Amino acid sequence: MCGIVGYVGEQPALDVVLEGLRRLEYRGYDSAGVAVLDPSGGGALTVVRRAGKLANLEAALAGRDISGTLGIGHTRWATHGAPTDRNAHPHVDCTGAIAIVHNGTIENFAELREGLEMRGHELTSDTDTEAVAHLIEERYAGDLPAAVRSVCAELDGSFVLVVTHREQPDLVVGARRNLPLVVGIGDGENFLASDVTAFIAHTREARALDQDQVVELRRSGVRVTDLDGAEVEGETFHVDWDTAAAEKAGYDYFMLKEIQEQPAAVSETIGGRIGADGRLRLDELSISDEDVRGFEKVFIVACGSSYHSGLVGKYAIERWCRLSVEVEMGSEFRYRDPVLDRHTLVIAVSQSGETADTLEAVRHARQQRAWVMAITNTVGSSIARESDAVFYTRGGPEIAVASTKAVMTQLSAVYLVGLYLAQVRGTRDSDEVRSHFHDLATIPALITEVLSRMDGTRKLARDLSGEERVLFLGRHIGYPMALEGALKLKELAYVSAEGMPAGEIKHGPIALIDKGTPVVVLATRHALQPKLVTNIQEIRARGARTIVVATDGDESVTPYADHLIRLPDTKSLLSPMLTLVPLQVFAAEFAMARGLDVDQPRNLAKSVTVE
Ligand code: AGP
Repeated sequence: MCGIVGYVGEQPALDVVLEGLRRLEYRGYDSAGVAVLDPSGGGALTVVRRAGKLANLEAALAGRDISGTLGIGHTRWATHGAPTDRNAHPHVDCTGAIAIVHNGTIENFAELREGLEMRGHELTSDTDTEAVAHLIEERYAGDLPAAVRSVCAELDGSFVLVVTHREQPDLVVGARRNLPLVVGIGDGENFLASDVTAFIAHTREARALDQDQVVELRRSGVRVTDLDGAEVEGETFHVDWDTAAAEKAGYDYFMLKEIQEQPAAVSETIGGRIGADGRLRLDELSISDEDVRGFEKVFIVACGSSYHSGLVGKYAIERWCRLSVEVEMGSEFRYRDPVLDRHTLVIAVSQSGETADTLEAVRHARQQRAWVMAITNTVGSSIARESDAVFYTRGGPEIAVASTKAVMTQLSAVYLVGLYLAQVRGTRDSDEVRSHFHDLATIPALITEVLSRMDGTRKLARDLSGEERVLFLGRHIGYPMALEGALKLKELAYVSAEGMPAGEIKHGPIALIDKGTPVVVLATRHALQPKLVTNIQEIRARGARTIVVATDGDESVTPYADHLIRLPDTKSLLSPMLTLVPLQVFAAEFAMARGLDVDQPRNLAKSVTVE
């Protein structure tokens, strides 16, 4: 997620904004920039932006005399357009009088950009943000808040915008939809930021903007309106957090915060993928329809949790595309000398885009002339750069070593890629593709519902935190999540945890079952669910303590569940996106009950860049 800072007051704006951006560095970014308005001398609006870390920006600012007490700043986590100087924020309009920074995704920016260019605007970056600056330019007639409100009404998607105009030396305007923007209320000075971390060194009085609200920030005070311009009241709150807590939004660990960010991360990832014609659009893939129709085989290559996302992708792609899919661990792929050619699609799934095992698999696949598509969360990463096509998940930076929202967005991505391939190959008609997409679009709200039900799961995890062995069972699409649940518990609580196909338990692993052995069974609604009930009976008869994840209203499992974790219903093929949540919460709570640091588990790195 990008970092945003706005300031108007009496202090040197450049100092305040840079300090705020430093406090937002934890959010992760790959470029940064500032705009400062100096009302003296004709109102110069100075914009400086650089790819890379803040040090690059500070080097560019060194020695320059940039005074002024109004400014905005941005740290960018690239989603549209590579992390370059040209794509860094702030962006300006044709006249250079308007500077804007933005967090989020403008889903209809392609249409907006086309219209602007047809009306003579020259846009120089690859970003969706720049189009907004030029739209405000068109609407501005001296009233900046009115221009911003008018433009926001035309935007689809999620956004936080912070805007300045050279003619407005006492005004910074902000607006938000779906992403957070908070106001810091000072004495003769006021602040805007993505989160309070940026300004709590100056003030702890804050107000969070609500959906589709526009804020006018002046030295004398703050005015908030809706998109119609009607003033709206709002609550201010006092920020008690210290800086460390503020970076985690009050959670004890980044992982807990990132689990909660999953609904927004999925919305960001799937947003804007349906075009005006109702067809699925993955424009960034840049693979011709002819090549897509020429694919005869798919490999999905990944490691760890990303491998589990790939296993889910196998079910979706085989179901929708009738293409044979093999899923292989990055560390094994090239050593088995797989049969690859121009009719093979290799999908490399990697949050970091830097995992050495997966990167070497990509290189091997390209040497064998296979098509390579990356699914990654990191723009400009090695795997992205070395692939033929890239699907960027938009989960925002993931700080915790144990992957949560990245896996969730990878699941979104493999479903979208499967639907896209099916659409192009004609194995699913456009109505079916749209229907499946709309099922996917319901998932963020369902994840939110699941997150609201996790108190029982947390208590269960604490009660079981003395256990040294936990098994996870699932069938069909549930099996990859059984593996993921086991991996989460292994890497967070250092417990011997094993995930396996439920049907496999009687072929040996059932010998592991002793009296009270905890076994998590993923038994949400599915055609094979009755067989899972049999498996639950088998293990319970041997003393297992059964923790059953089941769909609301399904009473078939109730007699055999020592603990029930209920989930809302969804299409069975999408159920991993819901079963994943209690598995994450369970593992994190289990580890915390053991007094372990869930953000930095022992022996682990966030990105494994060695083979
Ligand atoms: C996930 O919780 C682990 N931290 C790890 O298995 C991770 O998924 C794996 O190393 C792959 O990383 P990548 O997605 O960045 O390639």
